[in-house]
Amino acid sequence: MTTPLVAMHDVNIRFNTTRGWGYAVTAVSADVRANTVTAIIGESGSGKSVLGAAVMGLLPNNAEASGSITYAGLELLGLTDREWDQIRGIELGWVAQNPASSLNPVYRIDELISEAAIHRRRIRRRDKRRFAADLLTKVGLPAATGRNYSFELSGGMAQRALIAVGIGLDPPLLILDEPTKGLDPANYDRIRDAIMDLAGEGHTIMLITHDVTLAEQVADEIWVLYGSRLVEQAPKQDFFATPLHPYSQGLLAAMPSRGLHPIPGESPSFFVPPEGCPFVDRCPYAVAACHELKTPSHPTEGRSVLCLLH
Ligand SMILES: Nc1ncnc2c1ncn2[C@@H]1O[C@H](COP(=O)(O)OP(=O)(O)OP(=O)(O)O)[C@@H](O)[C@H]1O
Ligand SMILES: [Mg+2]
Repeated sequence: MTTPLVAMHDVNIRFNTTRGWGYAVTAVSADVRANTVTAIIGESGSGKSVLGAAVMGLLPNNAEASGSITYAGLELLGLTDREWDQIRGIELGWVAQNPASSLNPVYRIDELISEAAIHRRRIRRRDKRRFAADLLTKVGLPAATGRNYSFELSGGMAQRALIAVGIGLDPPLLILDEPTKGLDPANYDRIRDAIMDLAGEGHTIMLITHDVTLAEQVADEIWVLYGSRLVEQAPKQDFFATPLHPYSQGLLAAMPSRGLHPIPGESPSFFVPPEGCPFVDRCPYAVAACHELKTPSHPTEGRSVLCLLH
């Protein structure tokens, strides 16, 4: 096995809210291998973005994180702002979930794309248009888009411009949060192709997405989050051929290509600490011991599943 680029060990993240503690990530242990695409899938509120934000050191002040997340051996949890300045955008790139609010409307797109490179890579200001044009082309946008402001772009164009900003310093690790959300088929295809190109160039990608079809198309590894826990982790082929966790099975059965069967029941409460399998109340196979299940099993090499059935 190669050394993982990102290694998570027993990561727990909770939020201090006016309604008490809310549990966003519980006991997540998993590795991201270099030069792979890991798709992190699961329903809304399952903890995908919070986990991505933790890797980027972008958790809000009311978050409390414990455990360990390393990047190339460097412990990320607990780095100072100054230490983050040395690696954020440079080693780890982040493309946030909401392009409209992530692109500063005061600057032109080519300024947003080139700003970090001007400071970090000594790109000259007068070369910024050319620098931005290369990156815009990479994400399938006309070079002239660089002269626009974000509010002049369609949602799909803004999404691609945001990816161009995120890859400006060519970080080895890219975390893309819902990069295809709300896009029409043409923009969807362009983003999917851009992700595949970036992966082909050797970037390691963590792709956070609701879209199981996209995950199937581009990922090497699948992580399934449910109710703050990593309920399954598997190589893509194994996952789609034989999903092991009952939630994973439900998630696949809900895909349009597999009949759109919804999972009956409701998601667990954010405010109840998940002690065992978070799917227990919806699971047709649940037994009493599921309430206590803390550790995943490893049915085959490279797979883990939080389920007593395996
Ligand atoms: N700043 C915050 N304060 C309190 N709770 C938060 C905060 N940010 C996120 N949460 C909560 O943490 C949980 C996980 O949120 P997260 O954004 O990771 O979900 P997600 O899986 O990305 O969902 P979606 O698919 O809708 O983007 C949710 O219950 C959310 O409400
Ligand atoms: Mg999210």
